Amino acid sequence: MSKKEEKVEETKKEASTKKTDTKAKTDSLDDLVEDAYQSVMEESVKETKGDKNADKEEKVEAKEKKTEKPKKLSKKEQKELDEATRQAKIKALEEAALSTRSDIDVLAQDDAMEIPISDLPGVGPATTLKLKDAGLTSIRGIALSSVKELVDNADLGDKTAAKLIKLCQEQVGLTFSTADTLYTERLALDRITTGSDNLDELFGDGIETESITELFGEFRTGKTQIAHQLCVTVQLPKERGGLGANAAYIDTEGTFRPERIVEMAERFGLDPKQVLQNITVGRAYTSDHQVNLAKEIATLARGKNIRLVVVDSLTSHFRAEYIGRGTLASRQQNLNQHIHFLLKLAEMHHVAVLVTNQVMSRPDFFFGDPTAPVGGNIVAHSCTTRVYLRKSKQTKRVARIVDSPNLPEVETVFEILSDGIHDG
Ligand code: GTP
Ligand code: MG
Repeated sequence: MSKKEEKVEETKKEASTKKTDTKAKTDSLDDLVEDAYQSVMEESVKETKGDKNADKEEKVEAKEKKTEKPKKLSKKEQKELDEATRQAKIKALEEAALSTRSDIDVLAQDDAMEIPISDLPGVGPATTLKLKDAGLTSIRGIALSSVKELVDNADLGDKTAAKLIKLCQEQVGLTFSTADTLYTERLALDRITTGSDNLDELFGDGIETESITELFGEFRTGKTQIAHQLCVTVQLPKERGGLGANAAYIDTEGTFRPERIVEMAERFGLDPKQVLQNITVGRAYTSDHQVNLAKEIATLARGKNIRLVVVDSLTSHFRAEYIGRGTLASRQQNLNQHIHFLLKLAEMHHVAVLVTNQVMSRPDFFFGDPTAPVGGNIVAHSCTTRVYLRKSKQTKRVARIVDSPNLPEVETVFEILSDGIHDG
């Protein structure tokens, strides 16, 4: 084993010991992350600025090495060794972080953001990490948050949160604007084709970015199929109805099927392998996990060029976990927070958020309306465009706009075929 490999192995061992400790004591992850952050920052300062102290340390280290081992490394070898060690550290830490809290953005990738949060006066690395933990990776995101959200999710004090929000609102110029500006902005909103002209027309020329679209309906009405289809069409170039961008999919029911993506990609003459690589899929096992995955997507969106976020299904975990009348209030509160985070994610990163929601199959559960979607008013009031799907003959399905601030309540027919969604 070469000297370089030995050092890398040693670092890996060190990191894996830390990883075991972290598992046993989840709280210590913060320390681990802080250490990693510090060490990575130190390394990069050393590299870029040629820190004198670091040089001194290096010399001392080299001297020690000299006494241990006779062969002295050349400057080039030392640099390569340092770089390999640094990479191994980062990798091991990423793995450690992923295995405990699935927070893969612990290394403060500020370059993936429009304006780095860490540039704000009074915001240090610890606060930056807390904000990232809460899925807040841009100044715009913080500007759109409430004090309570920052206190609850980012563990900040009331005063700090209020001050930070005010500062961010000033930075992004959140204030009144005239209706004509809003009109121009709305006309410029990007949209994604569904693969069916009928459906596109229903949605007002494809599904809209910067808002939430909800598909609700009984089982097998095509919610998941439309979600798959959009993961492909978002990757088409703009002139073909896409955004030349990527997708993220939170799968709560284990129904994401890559083979369906392959069939749908071939229809558009896209390279299926590439299309699959451009879809980030997270299987959510609980509602908490689902909430965390959404936050993780917020940290990834800019760097990975994600312009479509699917949550399929939005409500199934919430429905399964909160059983009985006594839990209704906390279910609605948590669901409400999750939806508001998704809305913020949509606005923050200019993405289209598509959520699915199965209607209750028990007509007695909701008085009067047997097709009332789960989540009741909370979901209804927060999703911008809501589309009700129902079965028709064989592979045909009917879609109806139910609640939209700008679209008429019309119906259209589409069809689910083996290569995706078509006009019915
Ligand atoms: P739930 O998740 O159970 O609430 O249903 P859903 O609304 O998500 O249903 P989904 O989108 O999975 O639609 C299921 C329908 O899609 C089936 O009834 C099939 O008609 C159709 N479908 C699914 N896979 C295929 C396929 O590979 N080929 C074809 N031709 N149709 C498919
Ligand atoms: Mg489904």
